[in-house]
Amino acid sequence: MSRFSLKGRTALVTGGARGCGLAFAEGLAEAGADVAIFDIIPPTEGFFEIEKIHGVKTRHYVVDVSSISSLEEGFRAFKEDFNGALDICVPCAGVNKNVAFLDTPPEEFERLVGVNIRGVYYTAQLAARAMVANKTIHGSIILVASIASYMAIRSQLSSAYCGTKGAVRAMCPAIAAELVKYGIRVNSISPGYVCTGMTVPFPHLLESWKDEIMNGRVAMPEDIRGGCVFLASDASSYMTGQDLCIDGGVTKW
Ligand SMILES: NC(=O)c1ccc[n+]([C@@H]2O[C@H](COP(=O)([O-])OP(=O)(O)OC[C@H]3O[C@@H](n4cnc5c(N)ncnc54)[C@H](O)[C@@H]3O)[C@@H](O)[C@H]2O)c1
Repeated sequence: MSRFSLKGRTALVTGGARGCGLAFAEGLAEAGADVAIFDIIPPTEGFFEIEKIHGVKTRHYVVDVSSISSLEEGFRAFKEDFNGALDICVPCAGVNKNVAFLDTPPEEFERLVGVNIRGVYYTAQLAARAMVANKTIHGSIILVASIASYMAIRSQLSSAYCGTKGAVRAMCPAIAAELVKYGIRVNSISPGYVCTGMTVPFPHLLESWKDEIMNGRVAMPEDIRGGCVFLASDASSYMTGQDLCIDGGVTKW
């Protein structure tokens, strides 16, 4: 199991205050990594448990990933606090909107593009620059896409969201190809339906999704964190440019 260990590595997770991002941060810490999070909201309780339970260093920063200046400021503070270390970056912050294609206002579309595409792209870019500068030999970037990059979400009106997640999955192999010469791997994760702050406001959807899922159950954030640890670690050292779909079989059924 030593190839799954992240001991001595430093990770940054955006959108890590709750939901999938928090689960990823917890998983990386459990495997031994120091973990920082960027988010626009204060961390939920689970984040403060990480340091106590796993004995790793944690920090949280208020950063809006849709703003380049906010991201740059966040990376500056993070660099100072962690002495330039960065081995793992998980751009996970994302937003969704249930709105009909014919009615989607430009400002809503731009908001989703700002967080889900630009936020992911520039987070990955700033992280990669930091990794090139610190010459890590364990560089791993894990972009968070979605099953929405593979299919229409049957019970939601989410054309803009699907478009942004498709962009995340499409940028992954191209970024991976350019970073391979620095020894940095880039993969994406496409979670299926996960019970988080993004989805709990829609209990009827959570219920209806069960019928769409091969294993008949909506994921909890813990169900998808192992994939993130795997992609972050040397256990996946031969993987780059790939998408890991963790969806209970939704896209195969
Ligand atoms: N929940 C699902 O079913 C599901 C499925 C597939 C993919 N995803 C993806 O997983 C990621 C996490 O989603 P989640 O379900 O945990 O949702 P969530 O709403 O619980 O968490 C998203 C986090 O991102 C943060 N965030 C939003 N805008 C931000 C910004 N501009 N700057 C910084 N942080 C910001 C939020 O404050 C929140 O903490 C998203 O990219 C989402 O698209 C979720």
